[in-house]
Amino acid sequence: MAVRKKVRRALPLPVPSDRRRFRRRLLSWYRRHGRDLPWRKTDDPYHILVSEIMLQQTQVDRVLPKYAEWLDKYPSMAALAAAPEREVTETWYPLGYNIRPRRLQSIAREAVASYGGRLPPDEATLLSFKGIGAYTAGAIRSFAFRERAAIVDTNVARVLFRVFVAEGDPKSPWMKRHLWTLSETLVPSRHVFDFNQALMDFGAMVCVARNPKCLICPMAKSCRAYPFAPGT
Ligand code: ADE
Repeated sequence: MAVRKKVRRALPLPVPSDRRRFRRRLLSWYRRHGRDLPWRKTDDPYHILVSEIMLQQTQVDRVLPKYAEWLDKYPSMAALAAAPEREVTETWYPLGYNIRPRRLQSIAREAVASYGGRLPPDEATLLSFKGIGAYTAGAIRSFAFRERAAIVDTNVARVLFRVFVAEGDPKSPWMKRHLWTLSETLVPSRHVFDFNQALMDFGAMVCVARNPKCLICPMAKSCRAYPFAPGT
């Protein structure tokens, strides 16, 4: 008997008016409630890189003092590239996951060796750096170069899954691809910086993993997961 390959039909993407409504609501929420964070006052690619690598596994509150200390000690790619490895790892302490300072330094060394101490703006070149994945490349492109680049991290995935999908396995590779497509569809060409920062704050402050704050959520009326039931 012939084996039939299961063909998954693509999930629908929001129509333009729904995209516009989502952007409008998100940006207006962010203007009132967004956090005032130091990496939101810069478009220096190195500063953005440092903040994003630090924020990968560590809460904002713990990153804040280390971010300031780090930039004081290593104010540029060249300064980080030239520093002794041991000192770099020690400076990172007490942030965990010690592979991260080494990764950060290896990115700095490659940037110095091949790109004049700068990060290149194009996606393919950014992705060719060991330690820069799809999320970090999107963050650098949208925050430092203001390009229309999407981001999906855990918070963003949760927001987009709840608001626009709300069924199926949010962790499956297929769904992850869909969430990237959704993020690419939603990201506006203007206000990219604010839009992506807003998505992260919204996931960290309203659409949180447990006990999301649906009662104050500006998306509730159009959210597929509303009213929220645990496990979604
Ligand atoms: N987590 C990852 N990137 C972040 C950012 N730019 N602001 C706040 N939290 C984040």
